[in-house]
Amino acid sequence: MKQWILGAVALAASMGAAAEGQVNIICSVQAEWCNMIATVYTRTTGVKVNVSMKGSGEALAQIIAEKENPKTDIWFGGTGDPHLQAAEQNLTLEYKSPSLPQLQGWAQQQASQAGYKTVGIYSGPLGFGYNTELIAKKKLQVPKTWNDLLNPALKGEIQVANPASSGTAYTMVATLVQLMGEEQAFEYMKKLHKNISQYTRSGTGPIKAAARGETTVSISFIHDAPGEKMQGFPIETVTPADGTGAEIGSMSIIKGARNLEAAKKFYEWALTPGAQEMAAAARQFQLPSNKNAKVDPRIPDFKKIKFINYDYAKYGSSAERRRLIAKWEKEVNSLPR
Ligand code: F6P
Repeated sequence: MKQWILGAVALAASMGAAAEGQVNIICSVQAEWCNMIATVYTRTTGVKVNVSMKGSGEALAQIIAEKENPKTDIWFGGTGDPHLQAAEQNLTLEYKSPSLPQLQGWAQQQASQAGYKTVGIYSGPLGFGYNTELIAKKKLQVPKTWNDLLNPALKGEIQVANPASSGTAYTMVATLVQLMGEEQAFEYMKKLHKNISQYTRSGTGPIKAAARGETTVSISFIHDAPGEKMQGFPIETVTPADGTGAEIGSMSIIKGARNLEAAKKFYEWALTPGAQEMAAAARQFQLPSNKNAKVDPRIPDFKKIKFINYDYAKYGSSAERRRLIAKWEKEVNSLPR
């Protein structure tokens, strides 16, 4: 850990230790990672990093609200779909990083299909988290497919976030629609609703609740489990055998950013292997987008997961995202349980 911090510090220092000023960031990953990048970057460059933490959907809502007078320079992290929506609405700035060729194909594709108004910084698969002690105590089966979550024995035992505020939950909605077809997916979510105890605001809420024994099962990005496990919680994950989706966590520069030059420098730094390796150091295990970043062994092995061919362009479009969330509110969330 000490070694990478030294590496990252040296790297940031070499990228302009004398620079000063500030950069305002909306950060949609977990607090520890947000705070780590802010602290290291400030210490090494002298540039003050002001961080405001927001889930993906809430971050987009803030950026839309600030449109006429942006207070944010960079939106760091969060699922890619709302970043694509922001790009489509011209809320983010076209910027072609010289580091693009160093990035994985999926990260470059995220950039090119947004007209370079965003870029992929990490990826992570959607799956289920479960509390191993509660599963055993309640004599429940570990869910292995989406259908397994409909088991009446799981009534009140599952948590997932609300897709209006959470990119994780929107990824679930979009994944199910692509996997089952829209009509079937909504029928499925209506049935699943009966087993849900709570739709949380934040996407990581459910896996934290499962880790702490407040719910038995969560629908979550599975890269959020190892960090909980490292704190001693009895949590394991599985990805649905019938197929699942993955997020392309993204980063965008806000159009009209007041600190544009500082924002570009921070953006370049955030794409470097050293900066991306800070995720694992902050106990977050998404797959980094820079091909030269070290892949921590706790990062999920993508080769072992059955993925759908997720259509990022379609499900990141404003019309589609808005339509699906409104439909979910009307047809699923409003139902009694
Ligand atoms: O920070 C953890 C994480 O799972 C990220 O990988 C993801 O982009 C983000 O949370 C999504 O958060 P939310 O669902 O609250 O928008």
